[in-house]
Amino acid sequence: MATAGVASRRKSEELILEGKVKVNGIVVRELGFKVSEKDIVEVEGKVINKDIKHVYYLLNKPIGYVTTVKDPQGRKTVMELVPKDKRVFPVGRLDIMTDGLLLLTDDGQLAYQLTHPKYLVEKEYHVKVKGKVGLDQIEKLQNGIMLEDGLTAPAKAVILKEDKGETLISLTIHEGRNRQVRRMMDAIGKKVLKLTRVRYGHLTLAGVPVGKYRLLTKKEVEKFKNSVTHLSKILDKKQ
Ligand code: URA
Repeated sequence: MATAGVASRRKSEELILEGKVKVNGIVVRELGFKVSEKDIVEVEGKVINKDIKHVYYLLNKPIGYVTTVKDPQGRKTVMELVPKDKRVFPVGRLDIMTDGLLLLTDDGQLAYQLTHPKYLVEKEYHVKVKGKVGLDQIEKLQNGIMLEDGLTAPAKAVILKEDKGETLISLTIHEGRNRQVRRMMDAIGKKVLKLTRVRYGHLTLAGVPVGKYRLLTKKEVEKFKNSVTHLSKILDKKQ
């Protein structure tokens, strides 16, 4: 309720204890009662969560941070790098040794859609590997590689640079399996020296230094929502 701007935290608690708050038509008197986006919350007969504003952060994750809300092993988490006043969570994950673009939001619906492979949101990685990479290996990455959890979907793979016994590849995928890029490189016999996510859909790291974040603009969020809606319609027609 405080997030929706209805009242201060204390006043909200008073309203709850006075029985003036209903969730899905039922009076709730429990402080700290959790509601999801789908629940209809009424305060003194007025629905208050029709247009709760969500927040979307684009973080340039450094190496050495884990992508979880809490880490039982006490390691540094990405949550330490964004404001704590909103209940945001990471959209998908990056390994502790991967850096680059990570989205965090409190919008569960969009987070789900962005990570679902059927919505085809592209994720581009720059992968530095040891040694040279042959065209046959690039073709394998592009056509699909059999991993233990199945064949990878077609990807875009381009060699960006070859220098001092190292090769920099741009790899664009729209799946998000666990450690997918590292496993794909493993499968073509290449050792990953550095892995950075440089793009997520239409968003890049431009202007965001390592360890810093920025808010997404309304336009950027709308663009994601529009493409998801557009694809949903196409997929519904196919069924
Ligand atoms: N693929 C990986 O292997 N690791 C990441 O962090 C992201 C994609």
